Amino acid sequence: MASSPPIGRTGSGPPPCLSVELAPGPDLKKCRKSNIEASSLYPSATLRIHELTAEERAVYATLKPERLPEHVAIIMDGNGRWAGHRSLKRFLGHQQGAKSVQLVTETASRIGLPWLTLYAFSLENNLRRPRAEVNFLMRLLKSYLESNLQRMMDNNVRMRYIGRTHELPPEVQDKMAWAADATARNTGTTLTLALNYGGRSELVDAFRGLAAEMKHKHLSPDRITEEDIHRHLYTAHMPDPDLLIRTSGEMRLSNYLLWQVAYTEIFVTERLWPDFRGIHLLEAIADFQRRERRYGGLGEGSAEAPGEVDEEAERFKIAAG
Ligand code: FPP
Repeated sequence: MASSPPIGRTGSGPPPCLSVELAPGPDLKKCRKSNIEASSLYPSATLRIHELTAEERAVYATLKPERLPEHVAIIMDGNGRWAGHRSLKRFLGHQQGAKSVQLVTETASRIGLPWLTLYAFSLENNLRRPRAEVNFLMRLLKSYLESNLQRMMDNNVRMRYIGRTHELPPEVQDKMAWAADATARNTGTTLTLALNYGGRSELVDAFRGLAAEMKHKHLSPDRITEEDIHRHLYTAHMPDPDLLIRTSGEMRLSNYLLWQVAYTEIFVTERLWPDFRGIHLLEAIADFQRRERRYGGLGEGSAEAPGEVDEEAERFKIAAG
Protein backbone atom coordinates (compact mmCIF):
# COMPACT_ATOMS: atom_id res chain seq x y z
CA MET A 1 0.00 0.00 0.00
CA ALA A 2 1.12 3.59 -0.51
CA SER A 3 3.15 5.21 2.24
CA SER A 4 0.57 8.02 2.53
CA PRO A 5 -2.16 7.10 4.97
CA PRO A 6 -5.63 6.63 3.45
CA ILE A 7 -7.59 9.87 3.41
CA GLY A 8 -11.33 10.40 3.45
CA ARG A 9 -13.90 7.64 3.67
CA THR A 10 -12.39 4.50 2.21
CA GLY A 11 -15.33 2.17 2.93
CA SER A 12 -15.00 -1.49 3.77
CA GLY A 13 -13.70 -2.61 0.36
CA PRO A 14 -15.43 -3.82 -2.77
CA PRO A 15 -17.45 -7.02 -3.07
CA PRO A 16 -15.40 -9.83 -4.66
CA CYS A 17 -17.27 -9.71 -8.00
CA LEU A 18 -16.05 -6.16 -8.50
CA SER A 19 -12.39 -6.78 -7.89
CA VAL A 20 -10.21 -5.64 -10.76
CA GLU A 21 -6.97 -6.64 -9.13
CA LEU A 22 -4.52 -8.09 -11.59
CA ALA A 23 -1.82 -10.68 -11.24
CA PRO A 24 1.23 -9.15 -9.50
CA GLY A 25 3.44 -7.09 -11.79
CA PRO A 26 7.10 -7.86 -12.45
CA ASP A 27 9.33 -7.87 -9.41
CA LEU A 28 11.17 -4.57 -9.80
CA LYS A 29 14.04 -5.74 -7.59
CA LYS A 30 14.89 -8.38 -10.20
CA CYS A 31 15.15 -5.82 -13.03
CA ARG A 32 18.61 -5.24 -14.44
CA LYS A 33 19.62 -1.64 -13.66
CA SER A 34 21.78 -1.44 -16.81
CA ASN A 35 18.64 -1.41 -18.94
CA ILE A 36 17.24 1.70 -17.27
CA GLU A 37 17.81 4.87 -19.28
CA ALA A 38 16.50 8.39 -18.85
CA SER A 39 13.64 9.45 -21.13
CA SER A 40 14.64 12.39 -23.36
CA LEU A 41 11.06 13.70 -23.25
CA TYR A 42 10.65 13.42 -19.56
CA PRO A 43 14.03 13.41 -17.84
CA SER A 44 12.74 12.67 -14.34
CA ALA A 45 11.16 9.45 -15.58
CA THR A 46 13.07 6.28 -16.28
CA LEU A 47 12.47 3.97 -19.18
CA ARG A 48 11.80 0.39 -18.12
CA ILE A 49 11.98 -1.25 -21.52
CA HIS A 50 13.22 -4.48 -19.94
CA GLU A 51 9.80 -4.82 -18.29
CA LEU A 52 7.95 -4.90 -21.64
CA THR A 53 6.86 -8.30 -22.91
CA ALA A 54 8.95 -9.80 -25.71
CA GLU A 55 6.20 -8.91 -28.23
CA GLU A 56 6.04 -5.33 -26.94
CA ARG A 57 9.83 -5.03 -27.10
CA ALA A 58 9.75 -6.12 -30.76
CA VAL A 59 7.32 -3.29 -31.61
CA TYR A 60 9.17 -0.81 -29.38
CA ALA A 61 12.38 -1.63 -31.28
CA THR A 62 10.76 -0.24 -34.44
CA LEU A 63 9.96 3.12 -32.78
CA LYS A 64 12.05 6.27 -32.89
CA PRO A 65 12.49 7.12 -29.19
CA GLU A 66 13.07 10.79 -30.00
CA ARG A 67 9.66 10.97 -31.71
CA LEU A 68 7.50 9.39 -29.03
CA PRO A 69 4.27 11.29 -28.41
CA GLU A 70 4.21 13.33 -25.24
CA HIS A 71 0.51 12.88 -24.67
CA VAL A 72 -1.77 10.03 -25.75
CA ALA A 73 -5.53 10.28 -25.19
CA ILE A 74 -7.83 7.28 -25.56
CA ILE A 75 -11.57 6.89 -26.12
CA MET A 76 -12.10 3.47 -24.56
CA ASP A 77 -15.09 2.04 -26.40
CA GLY A 78 -16.60 -1.38 -26.94
CA ASN A 79 -16.97 -2.83 -23.44
CA GLY A 80 -20.65 -3.60 -24.04
CA ARG A 81 -19.99 -5.24 -27.42
CA TRP A 82 -17.13 -7.29 -25.96
CA ALA A 83 -19.54 -8.68 -23.38
CA GLY A 84 -22.36 -9.10 -25.93
CA HIS A 85 -20.14 -11.18 -28.24
CA ARG A 86 -19.66 -13.58 -25.34
CA SER A 87 -23.31 -13.52 -24.22
CA LEU A 88 -22.19 -11.86 -21.00
CA LYS A 89 -23.76 -8.97 -19.11
CA ARG A 90 -22.46 -5.51 -20.04
CA PHE A 91 -20.95 -4.96 -16.61
CA LEU A 92 -18.50 -7.81 -17.24
CA GLY A 93 -17.28 -5.89 -20.29
CA HIS A 94 -16.63 -2.85 -18.09
CA GLN A 95 -14.84 -5.01 -15.54
CA GLN A 96 -12.59 -6.43 -18.26
CA GLY A 97 -12.12 -2.88 -19.59
CA ALA A 98 -10.75 -1.81 -16.20
CA LYS A 99 -8.04 -4.48 -16.55
CA SER A 100 -7.07 -3.00 -19.92
CA VAL A 101 -6.79 0.42 -18.24
CA GLN A 102 -4.16 -0.89 -15.84
CA LEU A 103 -2.18 -2.93 -18.39
CA VAL A 104 -2.06 -0.07 -20.92
CA THR A 105 -1.07 2.40 -18.18
CA GLU A 106 1.81 0.15 -17.14
CA THR A 107 3.13 -0.15 -20.70
CA ALA A 108 2.86 3.64 -21.03
CA SER A 109 4.88 4.07 -17.85
CA ARG A 110 7.54 1.59 -19.03
CA ILE A 111 8.18 3.54 -22.24
CA GLY A 112 8.26 6.86 -20.36
CA LEU A 113 5.08 8.34 -21.88
CA PRO A 114 4.57 11.55 -19.90
CA TRP A 115 0.77 11.92 -20.27
CA LEU A 116 -2.01 9.35 -20.76
CA THR A 117 -5.61 10.60 -20.64
CA LEU A 118 -8.46 8.09 -20.68
CA TYR A 119 -12.15 8.80 -21.29
CA ALA A 120 -13.56 6.71 -18.46
CA PHE A 121 -17.03 8.20 -17.92
CA SER A 122 -18.70 10.94 -19.95
CA LEU A 123 -21.34 13.42 -18.87
CA GLU A 124 -23.56 11.73 -21.44
CA ASN A 125 -22.88 8.29 -19.88
CA ASN A 126 -23.99 9.77 -16.58
CA LEU A 127 -27.18 11.26 -18.00
CA ARG A 128 -28.21 8.62 -20.54
CA ARG A 129 -27.20 5.20 -19.21
CA PRO A 130 -29.48 3.17 -16.95
CA ARG A 131 -28.93 4.03 -13.27
CA ALA A 132 -27.87 0.46 -12.54
CA GLU A 133 -25.03 0.71 -15.09
CA VAL A 134 -23.95 4.15 -13.81
CA ASN A 135 -23.93 2.84 -10.24
CA PHE A 136 -21.90 -0.17 -11.33
CA LEU A 137 -19.36 2.05 -13.10
CA MET A 138 -19.01 4.15 -9.94
CA ARG A 139 -18.42 1.07 -7.78
CA LEU A 140 -15.99 -0.29 -10.36
CA LEU A 141 -14.02 2.96 -10.32
CA LYS A 142 -13.74 2.88 -6.54
CA SER A 143 -12.70 -0.75 -6.58
CA TYR A 144 -10.22 -0.11 -9.39
CA LEU A 145 -8.51 2.71 -7.50
CA GLU A 146 -8.35 0.70 -4.30
CA SER A 147 -7.03 -2.48 -5.93
CA ASN A 148 -4.47 -0.86 -8.20
CA LEU A 149 -2.93 1.86 -6.04
CA GLN A 150 0.09 -0.28 -5.20
CA ARG A 151 0.67 -0.98 -8.88
CA MET A 152 0.45 2.75 -9.61
CA MET A 153 3.12 3.32 -6.97
CA ASP A 154 5.31 0.50 -8.35
CA ASN A 155 5.03 2.05 -11.80
CA ASN A 156 5.66 5.60 -10.60
CA VAL A 157 2.27 6.69 -12.03
CA ARG A 158 0.63 9.91 -10.88
CA MET A 159 -3.17 10.01 -10.96
CA ARG A 160 -5.25 13.03 -11.91
CA TYR A 161 -8.83 13.62 -13.06
CA ILE A 162 -10.66 16.00 -15.36
CA GLY A 163 -14.39 16.63 -15.66
CA ARG A 164 -17.21 17.79 -13.44
CA THR A 165 -15.99 15.39 -10.78
CA HIS A 166 -17.70 17.37 -8.01
CA GLU A 167 -21.01 15.91 -9.30
CA LEU A 168 -19.89 12.31 -8.68
CA PRO A 169 -21.02 10.48 -5.53
CA PRO A 170 -19.08 11.73 -2.45
CA GLU A 171 -17.61 8.31 -1.64
CA VAL A 172 -16.24 8.08 -5.20
CA GLN A 173 -14.75 11.57 -4.91
CA ASP A 174 -13.13 10.57 -1.63
CA LYS A 175 -11.51 7.52 -3.21
CA MET A 176 -10.35 9.59 -6.18
CA ALA A 177 -8.75 12.17 -3.86
CA TRP A 178 -7.13 9.37 -1.88
CA ALA A 179 -5.49 7.89 -5.02
CA ALA A 180 -4.45 11.32 -6.35
CA ASP A 181 -2.89 12.31 -3.02
CA ALA A 182 -1.08 8.99 -2.61
CA THR A 183 0.45 9.22 -6.10
CA ALA A 184 1.00 13.00 -6.17
CA ARG A 185 4.76 12.76 -5.74
CA ASN A 186 5.26 10.12 -8.43
CA THR A 187 7.28 11.42 -11.38
CA GLY A 188 6.47 9.02 -14.21
CA THR A 189 3.39 8.88 -16.41
CA THR A 190 0.48 11.07 -15.38
CA LEU A 191 -2.67 9.01 -15.82
CA THR A 192 -5.63 11.35 -16.14
CA LEU A 193 -9.10 9.83 -15.97
CA ALA A 194 -11.80 11.92 -17.63
CA LEU A 195 -14.80 11.39 -15.36
CA ASN A 196 -18.20 12.99 -15.76
CA TYR A 197 -16.39 14.75 -18.57
CA GLY A 198 -17.74 16.50 -21.67
CA GLY A 199 -15.73 18.63 -24.09
CA ARG A 200 -18.47 21.24 -24.49
CA SER A 201 -19.07 21.50 -20.76
CA GLU A 202 -15.31 21.92 -20.29
CA LEU A 203 -15.47 24.87 -22.69
CA VAL A 204 -18.48 26.31 -20.84
CA ASP A 205 -16.55 26.02 -17.56
CA ALA A 206 -13.47 27.60 -19.17
CA PHE A 207 -15.45 30.53 -20.59
CA ARG A 208 -17.16 31.08 -17.25
CA GLY A 209 -13.79 31.17 -15.52
CA LEU A 210 -12.32 33.47 -18.12
CA ALA A 211 -15.35 35.81 -18.06
CA ALA A 212 -15.07 36.08 -14.26
CA GLU A 213 -11.34 36.83 -14.53
CA MET A 214 -11.92 39.48 -17.19
CA LYS A 215 -14.64 41.13 -15.14
CA HIS A 216 -12.38 41.12 -12.08
CA LYS A 217 -9.47 42.64 -14.05
CA HIS A 218 -11.72 45.03 -16.04
CA LEU A 219 -10.43 43.61 -19.33
CA SER A 220 -12.18 44.02 -22.67
CA PRO A 221 -13.26 40.84 -24.58
CA ASP A 222 -11.19 41.75 -27.64
CA ARG A 223 -8.08 41.09 -25.52
CA ILE A 224 -8.96 37.35 -25.30
CA THR A 225 -6.34 35.06 -26.82
CA GLU A 226 -6.19 31.30 -27.40
CA GLU A 227 -3.73 31.14 -24.51
CA ASP A 228 -6.35 32.68 -22.18
CA ILE A 229 -8.83 29.95 -23.08
CA HIS A 230 -6.14 27.27 -22.68
CA ARG A 231 -5.37 28.55 -19.17
CA HIS A 232 -8.96 27.93 -18.11
CA LEU A 233 -9.30 24.39 -19.49
CA TYR A 234 -9.19 21.38 -17.16
CA THR A 235 -6.04 20.42 -19.09
CA ALA A 236 -4.19 23.73 -18.63
CA HIS A 237 -1.29 21.92 -16.96
CA MET A 238 -0.64 19.47 -19.79
CA PRO A 239 0.28 19.58 -23.49
CA ASP A 240 -2.42 18.88 -26.08
CA PRO A 241 -2.62 15.22 -27.12
CA ASP A 242 -0.33 14.24 -29.98
CA LEU A 243 -2.25 11.03 -30.57
CA LEU A 244 -5.92 10.15 -29.96
CA ILE A 245 -6.77 6.45 -30.05
CA ARG A 246 -10.36 5.24 -30.33
CA THR A 247 -11.20 1.57 -29.96
CA SER A 248 -14.11 -0.40 -31.47
CA GLY A 249 -14.12 1.29 -34.85
CA GLU A 250 -16.42 4.29 -34.40
CA MET A 251 -15.26 7.42 -36.28
CA ARG A 252 -16.43 9.94 -33.69
CA LEU A 253 -14.90 12.29 -31.14
CA SER A 254 -17.84 11.82 -28.75
CA ASN A 255 -17.34 15.21 -27.10
CA TYR A 256 -13.79 14.36 -25.98
CA LEU A 257 -11.12 17.06 -25.55
CA LEU A 258 -12.70 19.15 -28.33
CA TRP A 259 -10.39 22.15 -27.98
CA GLN A 260 -7.27 20.11 -27.36
CA VAL A 261 -7.45 17.77 -30.38
CA ALA A 262 -7.22 20.55 -32.99
CA TYR A 263 -3.97 19.12 -34.39
CA THR A 264 -4.01 15.66 -32.85
CA GLU A 265 -3.39 12.58 -35.00
CA ILE A 266 -6.31 10.16 -34.77
CA PHE A 267 -5.92 6.37 -34.74
CA VAL A 268 -9.06 4.24 -34.85
CA THR A 269 -8.86 0.49 -34.30
CA GLU A 270 -11.63 -2.11 -34.65
CA ARG A 271 -10.29 -3.81 -31.51
CA LEU A 272 -12.70 -3.55 -28.57
CA TRP A 273 -11.33 -1.88 -25.44
CA PRO A 274 -11.31 -5.01 -23.21
CA ASP A 275 -9.00 -6.63 -25.80
CA PHE A 276 -6.68 -3.61 -26.03
CA ARG A 277 -3.25 -4.13 -24.48
CA GLY A 278 0.09 -2.35 -24.21
CA ILE A 279 1.27 -3.85 -27.49
CA HIS A 280 -1.66 -2.15 -29.26
CA LEU A 281 -0.65 1.17 -27.72
CA LEU A 282 2.84 0.64 -29.14
CA GLU A 283 1.39 -0.27 -32.57
CA ALA A 284 -0.68 2.93 -32.53
CA ILE A 285 2.46 4.91 -31.67
CA ALA A 286 4.30 3.21 -34.56
CA ASP A 287 1.49 4.31 -36.90
CA PHE A 288 1.65 7.84 -35.42
CA GLN A 289 5.38 7.98 -36.17
CA ARG A 290 4.70 7.25 -39.85
CA ARG A 291 2.46 10.33 -40.09
CA GLU A 292 3.61 13.75 -41.17
CA ARG A 293 2.26 16.48 -38.89
CA ARG A 294 1.71 19.73 -40.73
CA TYR A 295 -0.19 21.99 -38.34
CA GLY A 296 -1.74 23.71 -41.38
CA GLY A 297 1.67 24.33 -43.02
CA LEU A 298 3.47 22.51 -45.82
CA GLY A 299 4.98 19.13 -45.14
CA GLU A 300 8.69 18.45 -44.81
CA GLY A 301 8.63 16.84 -48.26
CA SER A 302 7.42 20.00 -49.99
CA ALA A 303 9.81 21.15 -52.76
CA GLU A 304 8.97 24.81 -52.23
CA ALA A 305 10.71 26.84 -49.59
CA PRO A 306 8.46 29.05 -47.44
CA GLY A 307 8.39 32.59 -48.84
CA GLU A 308 9.46 31.43 -52.31
CA VAL A 309 7.42 33.15 -55.06
CA ASP A 310 5.59 30.61 -57.17
CA GLU A 311 5.72 32.20 -60.62
CA GLU A 312 3.19 29.78 -62.05
CA ALA A 313 0.69 30.75 -59.33
CA GLU A 314 1.40 34.45 -59.95
CA ARG A 315 0.74 34.04 -63.70
CA PHE A 316 -2.45 32.11 -62.95
CA LYS A 317 -3.66 34.92 -60.73
CA ILE A 318 -3.06 37.45 -63.54
CA ALA A 319 -4.76 35.26 -66.16
CA ALA A 320 -7.72 34.58 -63.88
CA GLY A 321 -7.96 38.20 -62.77
C1 FPP B 1 -17.54 2.24 -23.43
O1 FPP B 1 -18.10 1.00 -23.48
C2 FPP B 1 -16.83 2.51 -22.23
C3 FPP B 1 -17.23 3.27 -21.17
C4 FPP B 1 -18.59 3.48 -20.71
C5 FPP B 1 -16.21 4.00 -20.45
C6 FPP B 1 -14.95 3.23 -20.13
C7 FPP B 1 -15.06 2.45 -18.88
C8 FPP B 1 -14.17 1.51 -18.54
C9 FPP B 1 -13.00 1.14 -19.34
C10 FPP B 1 -14.39 0.72 -17.32
C11 FPP B 1 -13.87 1.29 -16.04
C12 FPP B 1 -12.78 2.25 -16.07
C13 FPP B 1 -12.02 2.52 -14.99
C14 FPP B 1 -11.02 3.59 -15.03
C15 FPP B 1 -12.13 1.75 -13.77
P1 FPP B 1 -19.58 0.93 -24.00
O2 FPP B 1 -20.42 0.48 -22.86
O3 FPP B 1 -20.00 2.21 -24.62
O4 FPP B 1 -19.43 -0.19 -25.10
P2 FPP B 1 -20.40 -0.43 -26.33
O5 FPP B 1 -20.31 0.79 -27.22
O6 FPP B 1 -19.82 -1.66 -26.98
O7 FPP B 1 -21.78 -0.63 -25.77
